[in-house]
Amino acid sequence: MSSRIPGFYRKSIAQRRAAAAACSGLPQEAFAAIDDGALPLEVADGMIENVIGTYALPFAVAVNFQIDGVDRLVPMVVEEPSVVAASSYAARMIRDSGGFVSTASAPVMLGQVQLVEVADVDRAVAALAEHRQELLTRARSSMRRLVERGGGPVDLTARILARPPGPDGGVVVVHLHVDCRDAMGANLINTLCEEMAWPLAELCQGRPGLRILSNLTDERTVTVRCRVAAASLAEQGSANDGARSASTRGAEVAEAVASASRFAELDPYRATTHNKGIMNGVDAVLLATGQDFRAVEAGAHAFAARSGVYRPLATWRLRGEGDAAELVGELTMPLAVGTVGGALHVHPGARLGLAICGATSANDLAAVVASAGLATNLAALRALATEGIQRGHMSLHARVLARAAGASGELLDRVAAELADSGDVRIECARQILHRLQASALER
Ligand code: MEV
Repeated sequence: MSSRIPGFYRKSIAQRRAAAAACSGLPQEAFAAIDDGALPLEVADGMIENVIGTYALPFAVAVNFQIDGVDRLVPMVVEEPSVVAASSYAARMIRDSGGFVSTASAPVMLGQVQLVEVADVDRAVAALAEHRQELLTRARSSMRRLVERGGGPVDLTARILARPPGPDGGVVVVHLHVDCRDAMGANLINTLCEEMAWPLAELCQGRPGLRILSNLTDERTVTVRCRVAAASLAEQGSANDGARSASTRGAEVAEAVASASRFAELDPYRATTHNKGIMNGVDAVLLATGQDFRAVEAGAHAFAARSGVYRPLATWRLRGEGDAAELVGELTMPLAVGTVGGALHVHPGARLGLAICGATSANDLAAVVASAGLATNLAALRALATEGIQRGHMSLHARVLARAAGASGELLDRVAAELADSGDVRIECARQILHRLQASALER
């Protein structure tokens, strides 16, 4: 079913659940997993240590997403207003030009075994190369179930990090490259690293140091691309439109977004904020689907700096002219996510998040996460390149305050609109507007 649900934000929570159920094919009862207090204290107590309660955040869905030809609702858990609205808005423009298109690498994670006090590091690296096949066979035999599912260790590489003398003597790091299929893979990798540490140390005549996965998962990346017709970027009803056509105005906005992209490509200070806008969407989906967002954050920023300079994860270019002008966006980032294991075993909301977006594999989920990131990036750049982000933020904030002041139904829209237009977005003003509108309704 289509994820294009006009006026979704105007519906009540019950109506939104009904629409989300219809779109995702889930029964409405499934949404009980995100009711008040849906994470039982005893489950929370089993998840981490020293539990004294649970902590709730809003769970929303972004609409309009079409990814690889499939309509999807995108679950988001986030405390920041406008992330959900902005990504839905960008996804709508993108779907009109064909939606998001993704490609993903094999889900290969890296495990690191550090070897210290290696007497002859060159001989150690040569021995590792010579015994690579039998070491891989040994590694595979300790991960039979993963191998049966089509994954498992696929390579073993080594690098010299230090030569003696030095505080750790000769240091060699061995990388175990493991296809983790639909698991995020941290436990699989860490277990393998611990099992392989002594055999590797003996072969290298050294001592095992750390044995742990690397969060720089640069062999597990996803790329999403999208196009946006320039005309659809034009500001609606802009005051100084004059006689200019939507495609002319749109081309100007598209060029401003491309210029914002170039700014991020030239300046790490801007690239950091640009990437923060991407992580707004990325982290929201990661949280809603029970992923290790710290792992993805660490990997994303290390990947962004892999050239030695911190760079944007996504770039935008203007292509074509006139009515054919379009903005082309591309995001590549490492995404270590899983659709089995981790919090998904126990957290009902995370399982629902996964079901809502219909991700059936880790790569599928990575495409959804990255599309959300590219969408929030486009929405932020478009706003920054035109009216600035504060107007949109303020109108959303005005809605929050109008609701807090007690407005509902049709009055909610009117109070929010008047409050935003007044430029004085405070709760007292929302109350005054509400009282005035209520009084004038009574007089009629
Ligand atoms: C705010 O959460 C995110 C932005 O700062 C991103 C950006 O500047 O591109 C608006």
